[in-house]
Amino acid sequence: MAVLKEGRAPREGVRSRGVERVPQQSGQDKVASRPVLVGRPTMKSVVQDRYGAVPEDVLRVEEVERPTIGSGEALVRIRAASVDRGTWHLMAGLPYPIRLAGFGLRAPKHSNPGRALAGTIEAVGDETCGYTSGDEVFGICDGSFAEYARVRTDKLARRPSNLSFEQAAAVPISGLTALQAVRDHARVRAGDKVLVVGASGGVGSFAVQIVKAYGADVTGVSSTAKVEAVRALGADHVVDYTRDDFTGGAQRYDVILDIGGNRRLTDLRRILTPRGRLVIVGGETGGRLLGGADRQLRALLLSRLVRQKLGTFVASENATDLDVLRDLIEAGKLTPLVDRAFVLGEVPAAIRHLLNGHARGKIIVTVGT
Ligand SMILES: NC(=O)c1ccc[n+]([C@@H]2O[C@H](COP(=O)([O-])OP(=O)(O)OC[C@H]3O[C@@H](n4cnc5c(N)ncnc54)[C@H](OP(=O)(O)O)[C@@H]3O)[C@@H](O)[C@H]2O)c1
Repeated sequence: MAVLKEGRAPREGVRSRGVERVPQQSGQDKVASRPVLVGRPTMKSVVQDRYGAVPEDVLRVEEVERPTIGSGEALVRIRAASVDRGTWHLMAGLPYPIRLAGFGLRAPKHSNPGRALAGTIEAVGDETCGYTSGDEVFGICDGSFAEYARVRTDKLARRPSNLSFEQAAAVPISGLTALQAVRDHARVRAGDKVLVVGASGGVGSFAVQIVKAYGADVTGVSSTAKVEAVRALGADHVVDYTRDDFTGGAQRYDVILDIGGNRRLTDLRRILTPRGRLVIVGGETGGRLLGGADRQLRALLLSRLVRQKLGTFVASENATDLDVLRDLIEAGKLTPLVDRAFVLGEVPAAIRHLLNGHARGKIIVTVGT
């Protein structure tokens, strides 16, 4: 059993249920000036106790108490996690509506912004959950930048047999979002002409492949350095948005998945067929108040008045769709595009790498072996 000998008391994720007081060597009935944790298993975890936009300022690694689990939950030994745009939003508490959505009004509710994970089940809260110690899984939790995490079993699935833990950690959030955008919201059909804006990123690199798996013709949009990577994902055509205006030509699309950049709705509607479907997945404006969500709200309102279908959605985190992704991966139709891996102590650098726009596909955090 690990003993936390010095430093701060354990933190959330991690919440201590009290600190053991130990007698001083003098034999007098004094207590140690520093809290000493005896007998409670601990772990290394990324922690933050305030919101902030600069990862190096707010994130650090600490020894903290391991989470405990209850019914419907599993304790997972994390092997790898991944970074995405949502990681930054949770860390920064921006745009502000994210705070109203239950992530903490003044300070982060969860002291660790990691969410996607792959790892091994250490223990389960109840024997009937379908998992047992040693099972290899991937999924979504609160606090995946740590050696252990408490995970709801309805947000877990078995790790694809043909992926490493690092590759599997790339899938949960970006893969689910791409799947639901293509299948449920854009309702892509074989033969559709589909434009994927943001094709080189975390969500986009999955979306390009899933659109192909549905038998559609896909045009990916990316910056110059990533054109070849998007082509290698299976895109039939690639537009370099730094050289060509993809909204300016004669081509019309049945579906546009708008994942990156912030093109005006009128520009996107111009290249959509009269009954085409626009799905706005995201796009960063840096705005603190709405962060681009105003465009999504306008799309929803406008959709009532025009023949084109304009919409947006928030991805649902569920095990059923993780199973669908695993089937696509094991069938060889989907392979995560992994940019590079960082270790736990480098999470701020990993987030910085994403913010700098260098990544092709997903950024991984390797935790254990
Ligand atoms: N709705 C949901 O439930 C949901 C779920 C997950 C994510 N999201 C949102 O989806 C968005 C993408 O997330 P992500 O994790 O995929 O981010 P990411 O990995 O950082 O990818 C961003 C993409 O945007 C592209 N891009 C940047 N500027 C552009 C421009 N001016 N024109 C065209 N493309 C541009 C980038 O292309 P280059 O690198 O080639 O420039 C890159 O492919 C974020 O806003 C995120 O918050 C929404």
